[in-house]
Amino acid sequence: MTQPLGGYQNEIYLHGLADQVPPCTTDATRLADSAREILEPGPFWYVEGGAGSGATMRANREAFDKWRIVPRMLRDAAARDVSTTVLGAQLPAPVLLAPIGVQSIVHADGELATARAASELGVPMVLSTASSNTIEDVAKANGTGPRWFQLYWPNDPDLCISLINRAAKAGFSTLVVTLDTWSLAWRPNDLDHSYLPFLRGIGTAIPFSDPVFRSGLADTPENDTPMAVLKWVQTFTGSDRNWEALPFLREHWDGPIVLKGIQHVDDARRAADAGMDGIVVSNHGGRQVDGAIASLDALPAIANAVGDRLEVLFDSGVRTGADVFKAIALGAKAVLIGRPFVWGLAHAGEAGVRHVVRSILAEFDLTVALSGYRSVAELTPDALARGC
Ligand SMILES: Cc1cc2nc3c(=O)[nH]c(=O)nc-3n(C[C@H](O)[C@H](O)[C@H](O)COP(=O)(O)O)c2cc1C
Repeated sequence: MTQPLGGYQNEIYLHGLADQVPPCTTDATRLADSAREILEPGPFWYVEGGAGSGATMRANREAFDKWRIVPRMLRDAAARDVSTTVLGAQLPAPVLLAPIGVQSIVHADGELATARAASELGVPMVLSTASSNTIEDVAKANGTGPRWFQLYWPNDPDLCISLINRAAKAGFSTLVVTLDTWSLAWRPNDLDHSYLPFLRGIGTAIPFSDPVFRSGLADTPENDTPMAVLKWVQTFTGSDRNWEALPFLREHWDGPIVLKGIQHVDDARRAADAGMDGIVVSNHGGRQVDGAIASLDALPAIANAVGDRLEVLFDSGVRTGADVFKAIALGAKAVLIGRPFVWGLAHAGEAGVRHVVRSILAEFDLTVALSGYRSVAELTPDALARGC
């Protein structure tokens, strides 16, 4: 067996003997506080903020606190293996990096740093359509690492085909289609700072480098950025779809397709009926519908209803190894880490992403072992109790 992921703990302590400390805190619940000290208000709040009053963001965290792990003893858990396989990707732990757009607003290396760190750890990165780097450059930085592509479904079918063809050609194995952000929600933090990076031509690298998108412009995005931005807005916002549109994606994408943003059991069933390979139970980190159900509260019923028909992934509110444990025990096959790795990026670029992700993996591994379990498959609702 290879070195357990929890071994990162020993590495940190040993580095301490040479007076080295980690680039940022090992407690992801505290990362936003220190990131606030190093970022301008616009970028900080773009990452940290949610929709409306922030009620759903808070609910996402509170839902985790309502569940408690019940540790078991004398179960020979020293030798454990928390690796798993999701849609053909082998993962060191049931963890992926969520699609997060415009990463260059927190660090100049943006998605390239994330791609390098993810590759080194063998953790799949999900590249956002709203990336600040092109599909091809991110693929190059990611090398032989596992990578998935997240689609914001443009209202131009030719552009859609072009984007997903580019992703397939660049080695992205799974298509993640985000359904909950066909229009931007009311986000007071961004409104109060009048800050939307896309309008500044940030987070537009993928369409701006696309031949189909460029062919629809009178001048290049480099020469006339405002016109290109205007077309970007018209192409990527304001068009909701319906279930009948899904065969179009199946027709043009050969690999697995995952629908992101599912919160209702009936929608999960429809995804399975439509032959989708997976779903992400997600409320976009509370950034879309304020007052919406906590994503973790939606998870158990959805996992019960469709867990045997497609892969149920989960995000929104995951901060710690214990959170990963709880989501897996409640039926998720794997979780997506969102804001924490972006804070790592903000603190120290590639090294910061690596540190934050390794910390969460290590804490998960130690939590599994110290709770008396030896594999991800053993984590079921029996491992949990309702807290207060
Ligand atoms: C700054 C930021 C940008 C995001 N960009 C995208 C995106 O481009 N595509 C997408 O599907 N989800 C995007 N998301 C949502 C994440 O994929 C994920 O659902 C969310 O971060 C989970 O919530 P959490 O970070 O609170 O755990 C973004 C989230 C944040 C915080």
